[in-house]
Amino acid sequence: MATMSERAQAVFPAGSNGEFNLPPELAIVIARGRGCELWDSAGRHFLDFSMGWGSVLVGHARPEVVDAVTAQAPQGSNYAYVTEASLALAEEILRVSPACEALRFCASGTEATMYCQRLARAFTGRPKILKFEGAYHGANEVGVTSLFPADPPDFPEPDPTGGGIAHMVKRDVLVAPYNDLEATRAIIDAHRHEIAGVIVEPLQRCTPPEPGFLEGLRAATRAAEVLLLYDEVVTGFRLAYGGAQEYYGVVPDLIAYGKALGGGYPIGAFGGRREIMDAVREDRLGDRDYVWVASTLGGNPVSTAAAGAALEVFRRPGTYARLHGLGDYLRQGLRRALRERQVVAQVIGDGPLAQVVFSPAPVRDYRSTRKGDAAKGRALMLGLFARGVFLNPMGTKLYLSIAHDEAVCDDFLERFDDALAEVA
Ligand SMILES: Cc1ncc(COP(=O)(O)O)c(C=O)c1O
Repeated sequence: MATMSERAQAVFPAGSNGEFNLPPELAIVIARGRGCELWDSAGRHFLDFSMGWGSVLVGHARPEVVDAVTAQAPQGSNYAYVTEASLALAEEILRVSPACEALRFCASGTEATMYCQRLARAFTGRPKILKFEGAYHGANEVGVTSLFPADPPDFPEPDPTGGGIAHMVKRDVLVAPYNDLEATRAIIDAHRHEIAGVIVEPLQRCTPPEPGFLEGLRAATRAAEVLLLYDEVVTGFRLAYGGAQEYYGVVPDLIAYGKALGGGYPIGAFGGRREIMDAVREDRLGDRDYVWVASTLGGNPVSTAAAGAALEVFRRPGTYARLHGLGDYLRQGLRRALRERQVVAQVIGDGPLAQVVFSPAPVRDYRSTRKGDAAKGRALMLGLFARGVFLNPMGTKLYLSIAHDEAVCDDFLERFDDALAEVA
């Protein structure tokens, strides 16, 4: 009889729903999760350092979230219209998000960044979006452009990094080096009449912005009358309750949210200044700059109930000090293990995020990340997976959550040291 993972290999390309390139001997099927732990269908236990790619910052099966969902579920799961839960959630997001005077919900981060791009184009009447090499903004065309270019072209030339998008990428996307303000400013100035917006992950993957980078980007976009779009799908409600806007103190024109906001349930949100957001008003249908927005499950009452409960947990005193303390603890532990085994590597990240890059040089952008030994990085991830740490071996980013603590990090670090001994 076929095992669960053989059945998964038979129906899902590469055996998963996406971005999990596991060798067959490590492939598993998950049965359940609680806090920061998972169990597979054979009853094996894992420490979770992926946390639903960061969507479950609140922890698996967090009781407050479970209660909110089970209270809503018998009342219906979707009316595709405003509910008390979606209204209260929107009001709370606007309260903490200075960039947002109005917002709409959708069901994923991919949708949220797509709507931000479209709004920028409609508002400015210009066609192009400038993004940073190596940044991910979801699976939409701009989001995957120049994500993993094998042979990166000269800036600002885009690289499709995959099939199905080349036709529009060359026409509609420009690419700049993250953390290089001078080069970015030069591209913005040279293309100001065709750029609608600059989209940035304020913390790109796990690489923090250098001092002055986001401030300079804000000044350069404002001077060129180009919109600044923050992709806060990862940073929102994670680096601080007010996300990267609060943490780095730079306010964009449009923001996309997702992941942690939903408490582990499907959600996306996008918002900005009212004059920009007004383009989605249905009473403007027929105007040339009207922007079509329709997300069947966007703002559904189950997801917004879960999100409301998650935000209530995040707001409790000490949450972010604890998340940052834990992130520092993990990164320091990783550095110590690497030092003791005399392995040259960079440990990057901020807040409850960490990544190891096997490179002798500091990491500040995609090209410096690429100097790292990717094969060693993957071997380490697979070694951790084999030692009962659930993570995404393609992503290499480690996500902590509210459910993690120092004891779990210590347990992880022991397994890390053991895996490191094998690959170093
Ligand atoms: C920065 C960033 N933006 C957007 C997305 C896309 O979000 P989703 O997978 O919910 O569509 C992701 C997902 O990993 C992301 O990391």
